[in-house]
Amino acid sequence: MSDRLYIFDTTLRDGEQVPGCQLNTVEKVELAKVLEELGVDVIEAGFPISSPGDFKSVVEISKAVTWPTVCALTRAVEKDIDMAAESLKYAKKGRIHTGIGTSYSHIHYKLNSTQDEILERAVRAVKYAKKYVEDVEFYAEDAGRTDNEYLAKVIEAVIKAGATVVNIPDTTGYTLPYEYGEKIKYLKEHVDNIDKAIISTHCHNDLGMATANTMAGIMNGARQAEVTINGIGERAGNTALEEIAMILKSRYKLLNIDTNITTKNLYKTSRMISNMMNMPVQPNKAIVGRNAFSHSSGIHQDGVLKERETYEIIDPKDVGVNDSSILLTARSGHAALKHHMEAMGYDLPKEKMDEIYKKFLDLADKKKDIQDEDICALIGDTQKKDHRIKLEYLQVVTGKTLIPVATVKLNIGGEKFDATSSGNGPVDAAIKAVKQIIHRHVTLEEFLIQAITKGSDDVGKVHMELDYKGVKYYGFSANTDIITASVEAFLDAINSIKA
Ligand code: KIV
Ligand code: ZN
Repeated sequence: MSDRLYIFDTTLRDGEQVPGCQLNTVEKVELAKVLEELGVDVIEAGFPISSPGDFKSVVEISKAVTWPTVCALTRAVEKDIDMAAESLKYAKKGRIHTGIGTSYSHIHYKLNSTQDEILERAVRAVKYAKKYVEDVEFYAEDAGRTDNEYLAKVIEAVIKAGATVVNIPDTTGYTLPYEYGEKIKYLKEHVDNIDKAIISTHCHNDLGMATANTMAGIMNGARQAEVTINGIGERAGNTALEEIAMILKSRYKLLNIDTNITTKNLYKTSRMISNMMNMPVQPNKAIVGRNAFSHSSGIHQDGVLKERETYEIIDPKDVGVNDSSILLTARSGHAALKHHMEAMGYDLPKEKMDEIYKKFLDLADKKKDIQDEDICALIGDTQKKDHRIKLEYLQVVTGKTLIPVATVKLNIGGEKFDATSSGNGPVDAAIKAVKQIIHRHVTLEEFLIQAITKGSDDVGKVHMELDYKGVKYYGFSANTDIITASVEAFLDAINSIKA
């Protein structure tokens, strides 16, 4: 039989404390429903005393969600608890989350009090909350820096007063994983009535250890984890829900602990939170980052194509991402390009593939990542290899105060020709130089330059329409250099003149 870890989502409370991420009630209700669909056990919906908006959000979320517990935060203060109880009156399952600081700094500087007085206030708050709801969670703020002996005393007293869940926050993200794990173990071993409550982790990420600390807590007996989507939260944030859910899923055989999370919803939930809160997800973010399932080096791409598990420990479909992506970059191998082209519907003979691969590497050196449109342009380009007139060399000198001058060298049926010309722009100079060599009286009827995708490193596509003796000829080329693309498009049209 596996153990169950309860997921307590605080995206709408601790997560929403991030400056610039505030949501209105309608948005919070929408997100609460998404969290319910994701399968979280508890939704911390707000801190009702803090503002009328937070109060209203707890009320509306309580009405909107069906089965998760709705939780409201308070200080260990009676008026906070009254307000929280009032905001939870429509909750099918309501929880009051009350607590107080227990570390030296909190007791002496923030609360100007003593350990005995704090213990007494903690017990009083839990008893007071118990008058309203059965489910009361107690938090020992800054438990991470609280002396274990005193912490155990407080925890034992609040459980005796009726706390059903005891939260051990590493409020400042200070502890090391082994220390946090030992803290939980200490409580398991030194709090007589600990089996009457669930131990909860609540870790902040100031030193980048929130997930590791949460895992250490779980491995030492905590059975609730307080988390946020994308790890958002005060300062460096909280433990990321998606990381805990996927660690437990991926390492289930070792840990034997389950959650109720529908992991296939993780990606879409992450994007929704990110969009609504204007908090971008870093590309390399574990589980939900844009690059979490992208492979860019040739060796990795080859390995993944042969067997996904070589470089992937999570099936992207498990988190709602359709497939791993093979990014086409200058480090991509032949196999990756071939695989990508086959997915696009191209099955080309080996020599053609070799030729395209060479051009691809050339392009990838100039452009960060290659899109499908670039590949189409490369394929189109290779089909022109039989042209009689080919561009061998092009040099253009241009600038704001210079007259543009172009020198071109053409290969016509094996013979080399060159010419130099000025023009009213670099393209004009280059085309005039070509015309000096080919001696055909052609008129440029249409000249269209387009960027294929986006970015200043992009490939420019050039379409040209020429008129020669009353007949229209069309040319096309694509290159990161638009002057080269223009000359090549011009030659493409010239090459199609039969007579
Ligand atoms: O980080 C913290 O200590 C908290 C408590 C209010 C639970 O967010
Ligand atoms: Zn917190």
